[in-house]
Amino acid sequence: MSELAQFETLLKQTMGLNAKSVGLAMIERAVRDRCAVNGALDIAAYWRQVKESPAELQELIELVVVPETWFFRNGEAFKALARLALSHTLRSDRRLRILSLPCSTGEEPYSMAMALLDAGVSSTRFHIDALDISACCIAMAQRATYGMNSFRGKDLEFRDRHFVAVGERYALAETVRSKVRFRRGNLFEPALLADESGYDFIFCRNVLIYFGDAEQAQAVSVLNRLLSETGMLFVGPSEGGVLFREKMVSANLPLAFAFRKTAAAPPSQTNSALPVSRSAESKPDVPARARSAWTPRPGAAPARPVYGQGQGQAQGRASLAPRRSDVVPASAPVSRESSDNDPIAVAARLADQGQLREAAQLCKRHVQDHGPTAAAFYLLGLVSDAAGHHREAREHYRKTLYLDPDHTEALVHLAALLEMHGDTAGARQMNDRARRSTTRHLN
Ligand SMILES: C[S@@+](CC[C@H](N)C(=O)[O-])C[C@H]1O[C@@H](n2cnc3c(N)ncnc32)[C@H](O)[C@@H]1O
Repeated sequence: MSELAQFETLLKQTMGLNAKSVGLAMIERAVRDRCAVNGALDIAAYWRQVKESPAELQELIELVVVPETWFFRNGEAFKALARLALSHTLRSDRRLRILSLPCSTGEEPYSMAMALLDAGVSSTRFHIDALDISACCIAMAQRATYGMNSFRGKDLEFRDRHFVAVGERYALAETVRSKVRFRRGNLFEPALLADESGYDFIFCRNVLIYFGDAEQAQAVSVLNRLLSETGMLFVGPSEGGVLFREKMVSANLPLAFAFRKTAAAPPSQTNSALPVSRSAESKPDVPARARSAWTPRPGAAPARPVYGQGQGQAQGRASLAPRRSDVVPASAPVSRESSDNDPIAVAARLADQGQLREAAQLCKRHVQDHGPTAAAFYLLGLVSDAAGHHREAREHYRKTLYLDPDHTEALVHLAALLEMHGDTAGARQMNDRARRSTTRHLN
């Protein structure tokens, strides 16, 4: 085995990393950097240091992680979380247990806390644990001060509510910070969170894509152990396929990429932590609206913030495929029938049920019959992403952007894909565009 291949194997065994997902060059660079810092004569000498020192292995890990994250990333998941949590607190006194793993620099767990507090869930009724393998990420999360890169959506009202500007950065309020407990943790530690009881909600988003098949399966079995019987697991848009493969069951929450345990019997209405997906509480996943209906009705101000549904989108910009009502619907819910008439909304539901091919067919037929729309291509992008067809996904996101150059979600998804495939410059360009479109919107 070559000297570098030894490091690849070690990182795979320790943290699940599939070297190809980040590029072999990244691993080589990390090893060479650490060689230099440690004054190791060559890679063989550094290998001996790493084998003898867990602290040095951690230093190496710090250089190969991809901590890319931002507030309210893939916003539908936070809407679903807030709706379900609110519904739970109306039915039960039990405090909700929530886990963000990996949490990176904290934007994800803090977004959970903000979504719940803004939805009216009392701060005493939930608790969030947040773990990441990177000690540097955890330290940054605990500082809770963020730059512009962490704010990428169009709707930044949450920033006005929960942050104060400090120079060019934003410091998070203690009310939100106090809801999250951070610690370092590796998904592949055998005794990870062994002393904790099951979590009602787990977000494990945008990390499975960096693992090999066997490690993905291992990670899902760990997540299954950590999830309560009626709990719900949220993954990233490209990761649904892994959970279908591991026989988890879609929770049918469009574009939230949420799953339940294989054997979870539908909980009874009286004693379960969480409603089953088609119960009254999860109804807000239904009212997807046709694009023209995304325009807010005159005078109908939202009762609650509508994450990921910025003004630009509400004014009819073709965006995240179907628009749904929010944590607390701003207006009367649209009937199931109306969403059934919207092929893109139907396609989104099919995608959430794992029927990716059918969802794609519906979108393609829609394009054939009605001409290209950003909404159809964006959903095609998500579906290809979920199926692991990254090249196709990139094409679809590009077509979305051709039709709607300011489509923030397509920009950030494309950036993530480019980053994943080693095109850091391309990813930066897309992220810059996403930021500029946000700024334009705010001005
Ligand atoms: C792309 S970020 C995702 C953060 C957040 N969940 C999100 O979706 O925005 C991936 C994170 O996974 C962490 N990570 C990688 N391997 C891990 C492992 N084996 N256990 C825990 N965290 C890990 C990295 O440190 C990095 O912060």
